[in-house]
Amino acid sequence: MKLVRFVAAIAALALGSLVQAAPIVVKLSHVVADKTPKGQAALKFKEIAEKLLPGKVEVQVFPNSQLFGDGKEMEALLLGDVQIIAPSLSKFDRYTKKLQIFDLPFLFNDIKAVDRFQQSKEGKALLDSMKSKGIEGLGYWHNGMKQLSTDRDQLKVPADVKGLKFRIQPSDVLEAQFKAVGANPQKMAFSEVYQALQTGVVDGQENTWSNIYSQKFYEVQKTIAETNHGVIDYMVITNAKWWDSLPPDIRAGLHKAMDEATAYGNGLANEINERDRGLIEKAGKAKIQTLTKQDLAQWQKAMEPVWKKFEPDIGKDLIDAALRSNK
Ligand code: LMR
Repeated sequence: MKLVRFVAAIAALALGSLVQAAPIVVKLSHVVADKTPKGQAALKFKEIAEKLLPGKVEVQVFPNSQLFGDGKEMEALLLGDVQIIAPSLSKFDRYTKKLQIFDLPFLFNDIKAVDRFQQSKEGKALLDSMKSKGIEGLGYWHNGMKQLSTDRDQLKVPADVKGLKFRIQPSDVLEAQFKAVGANPQKMAFSEVYQALQTGVVDGQENTWSNIYSQKFYEVQKTIAETNHGVIDYMVITNAKWWDSLPPDIRAGLHKAMDEATAYGNGLANEINERDRGLIEKAGKAKIQTLTKQDLAQWQKAMEPVWKKFEPDIGKDLIDAALRSNK
């Protein structure tokens, strides 16, 4: 009898340690390639999290809309089908109007200014702006400044895009931005852009060098104008309920991993975009059009009304805070 109890106790212990050994699976889904700033940060997060929490977590990274694309990933996060996503800041319209600030054309001088704003009191507060929707912001990941591309030879001033169809991210600000220059914006998932450009469903798009390169948009566009007229950055978000339910040591480890991966990815972003600009130039398929101050001033002037239109939703204080980050 004693022996039976002894064996049962050992079996229970063994089972217990087996149950304990099962790692928590953290799925991280995104829509771009591994070799982009977001792709690199995601892989770094996996590496650090699994090193800090050996056997306790397994991070599974799904790039290139493999698991969920635009339009699906938010719902999947709220349903608990994925634990971490990092959508572009232009994809939060339905959840908070405050993040529209990042889409205002010609607001930030460069990615350094974007970074200063994100790290300011006002920028950090935005990480909590979707708490009531069950979404928690864990940090900002950089990509870079946006460039404009079309399938036309001429792309220098606003008149060159009049009547052209542009793919945009699902953002009302970006819609207004293209309407302001007389173009026809069309909201579309990222994974569909290449084909839409190739088949002429749209004539152009706006994106960072790293996305234009890794998605091969430069192969199906004639001209890329170096406008730097806006930014594509990301908010890394998680399902607040899931996050709060994690054991404290796991949550702390994931936080640390996220902070380190963020510093790593953000430190690389500029370099990756510069590298990809060079690769596009070298490929010689699309012409890179540099713009003069006077050309840029025309775009800025044409897009100015967008600020006034969205100021009531975004708030003047927030816009002023963002402008302060340019100094
Ligand atoms: C896009 O949809 O154009 C980009 O925001 C995709 C991304 O995540 O960089």
